[in-house]
Amino acid sequence: MFQDQFSARAINRYAGLIEKATTSLLARRAAPGSSGDAVADVARTLPSLVFARWLGVPHSHAPSFWYWNARVGDLVLGAAQEEREYRTSLQSLVKLYDYLGDLVRQRREQPQDDLISAVLAGGAIGDTVSEEEFIGMLTHLAFAGGETTSNLIANGLRALLMHPEQLEAARENPKLLSGAVEEALRFDGPSKMSVRIAAEDLQLDGQDIHAGDRIFLVTAAANRDPRQFDDPDTFDVHRGRTSHLGFGYGIHFCIGAPLARLVAGSALGSSYGSTRTCGCSRPATSGSCRCSTAASRTSPSATDVRRSPASAAPPPDPTSAPRRRRRTSA
Ligand code: HEM
Repeated sequence: MFQDQFSARAINRYAGLIEKATTSLLARRAAPGSSGDAVADVARTLPSLVFARWLGVPHSHAPSFWYWNARVGDLVLGAAQEEREYRTSLQSLVKLYDYLGDLVRQRREQPQDDLISAVLAGGAIGDTVSEEEFIGMLTHLAFAGGETTSNLIANGLRALLMHPEQLEAARENPKLLSGAVEEALRFDGPSKMSVRIAAEDLQLDGQDIHAGDRIFLVTAAANRDPRQFDDPDTFDVHRGRTSHLGFGYGIHFCIGAPLARLVAGSALGSSYGSTRTCGCSRPATSGSCRCSTAASRTSPSATDVRRSPASAAPPPDPTSAPRRRRRTSA
């Protein structure tokens, strides 16, 4: 259902928007008074801006959207430990689902140039896929697409700063940009592991695995496998597109890979092209760079919301107006 909207061709329509957003973030970053923090100013902000625009979340709703997203992340990634945090996360999941449900109904009435409208125009929703299922998929998407791309940009920048000769090579030859993104995914990608449940008894590498067992597939280890990669612990932007598992493998291969590659490429290319690559003014060598120092800002943004702790007050809720819930099934 989503395949067409996620194809590299469909995603490339957003290349101009992504370039413009990157340029304006970098200009803001270079302005006097900016924290100069590459993680806060670019890595977290750019994917938030692009993702919300692409999905169809209005700018004014972005703080709530990312607040709910962050709280769902607390739940999925285990940061919600106390009952109060757990409750906040569950409420946020419901809010996110309800919010996306409202957005779907609005786009059905008034289509716009965004993912939700494009999928609705395809005609599958309410036919082969129920509206509830569609909203559930969007909720999953909202979580899957935000944090991961931010982490790829942050880890990619860090790897380049820690390897000045690679940074220099990539700076001198723009053709190495996609190699830098791929190598960041292999060397220190955001996704380190996938989990599967064995459907049947099997033997794997001499181990007995029983149906129902949980299997932790550590893709980060496979990405450093010396049988697959020469000198695997070396960060090398010249490797090109290798068979790394940074986006998974097989039928669950990441559907958002073209979008993530485009956004990360724009962020890395523009950041390392600029003279102020990281927030600190020290040489970009191992140990001396502090490019993730805390940001100080005067007005809250989607980025601040994504960094906020679970105890922070939520932004105003755009769904709080009374409304009726409508359900459609296939
Ligand atoms: C650098 C950024 C990203 C990384 C490293 C990443 C990584 C992954 C990985 C490893 C999987 C496979 C999980 C498994 O096998 O269990 C996956 C699946 C998925 N990703 Fe991403 N992802 C990224 C960005 C995105 C974006 C931007 C979106 C959406 C816009 C997205 C949506 C999804 C979805 C929906 C799936 C599930 C696909 C399925 O089960 O068929 N991801 N991702």
